Amino acid sequence: MERGLTDTPEPASGVKADLETLVSLAKRRGFVFPSAEIYGGFAAAYDYGPLGTQMRRNIRDLWWRAMVQERDDIVGIEAAIITNPDVWVASGHVSNFTDPLVECRECQGRFRADHLEDDLCPNCGRKNTMGPPRQFNMMLSTIVGPVSDDSGRAYMRPETAQGMFVNFDNVQTTTRKRLPFGIAQQGKSFRNEITVKQFIFRTREFEQMEMEYFCHPSESLDLHTYWKKERLRWHLSLGIRREHLRLRDHDAEELSHYSKATSDVEFHYPWGWGELEGIAHRGDFDLTQHAQHSGKKLTYLDPETNQHIVPHVVEPALGLDREMLTILFDAYDEDEIGGEKRVVLHLAPEVAPVTVAVLPLSKKDTLEPTAREVSSMLRKQYRVQYDDTQSIGRRYRRQDEIGTPLCVTVDFDSLEDRAVTIRERDTTEQIRVPIAGLMDAVRDRLEALRPAVPSLDEIEV
Ligand code: GAP
Repeated sequence: MERGLTDTPEPASGVKADLETLVSLAKRRGFVFPSAEIYGGFAAAYDYGPLGTQMRRNIRDLWWRAMVQERDDIVGIEAAIITNPDVWVASGHVSNFTDPLVECRECQGRFRADHLEDDLCPNCGRKNTMGPPRQFNMMLSTIVGPVSDDSGRAYMRPETAQGMFVNFDNVQTTTRKRLPFGIAQQGKSFRNEITVKQFIFRTREFEQMEMEYFCHPSESLDLHTYWKKERLRWHLSLGIRREHLRLRDHDAEELSHYSKATSDVEFHYPWGWGELEGIAHRGDFDLTQHAQHSGKKLTYLDPETNQHIVPHVVEPALGLDREMLTILFDAYDEDEIGGEKRVVLHLAPEVAPVTVAVLPLSKKDTLEPTAREVSSMLRKQYRVQYDDTQSIGRRYRRQDEIGTPLCVTVDFDSLEDRAVTIRERDTTEQIRVPIAGLMDAVRDRLEALRPAVPSLDEIEV
């Protein structure tokens, strides 16, 4: 279970935006809106706007590409969100998926005991007013079927992981995968979180991207180390800076009920180091539990020894919403161009919601056909935004603020020389290229912006 914040106060992170600045940018530019805002919103629920939706899709696809498409040893599934409640009894979530809840005797506010500072009530500000902690189950439940009593009680999954465990045998027999192999899944999870105050960092409905890597027990510790490095590399490949990331092993008392060892990839948020992704060694806990509760055999026949074994599991588990927030924090920058302040997101090209903006210099009809031709050509390969409103300077600023790596400007000379100007976001450098060579020029410039990723050997754990 993720804990989010580390206990020790840390010096300010190198991140240039505070939470308020980022929330405001996200709303202003259409990344994230408060959910159902016209009704006053809903606590800790958010709706993603056009840019946020595209950015999430990009991150989701990059994860799938790295974890499934580019590998021979991992396959994907999509399991039901609401499934047989026995799954959650077997997994331990019904009895153990709890957080310590305390209630303020003065204002009756309820808080997570381990998130309180100096025993101060975050609501009424009084000190030492909290009652004794009690364990609060974080699963959200619903009633399934036409009878609205407890016989129809079912749970919204609090993690995608169990879908992979209960399908272990189905997947292994249909794919005939040999150990070690993984099952990956992306999808919504739900938790009735007590404290939800950091925007999309912690919400009650969120999307997870998880992979269960089944392996021989003797290999499991080495594979845990391997996945720690591999997952850190993936975050770097999305452009998050190395100095803002660290790997941290959990202390024994922090471990979840299923875990033998867990390491977090942490990011240095403006409020301190916090969990971005958890990489857990789950041992044989889940397969053993499900075998006991379902009465079905969940073992693997080792072809070398001809013996049945219960595989051990290493699990990298990441939240899509949290990855997006982290990338936005890391990419945010303010600088000065020609004496004017600008806000810029240094997003990696594959993550940016818009890859290329096409900007006709003037709104005059004469430029539109050429600008539309350029944008249709680019659209075949890239995410393009066509923008012909306001001055060119303001349009550049708008694109910088949403992290668009390249702008292509069509001007009156373009009609004569069939050439356009590419303007690069980070340097604001401009080059003139023929329309005939535009696709190659854009590809080369995007390639140059792709983040460098260290090899596995270069990462220390
Ligand atoms: N299957 C293991 C598991 O779910 P977790 O550490 O509880 O482990 C994994 O969650 C990741 O999911 C976290 O590292 C975080 O990125 C994301 N996550 C967890 N709870 C979240 C929440 N309430 N809101 C947003 N993201 C969350």
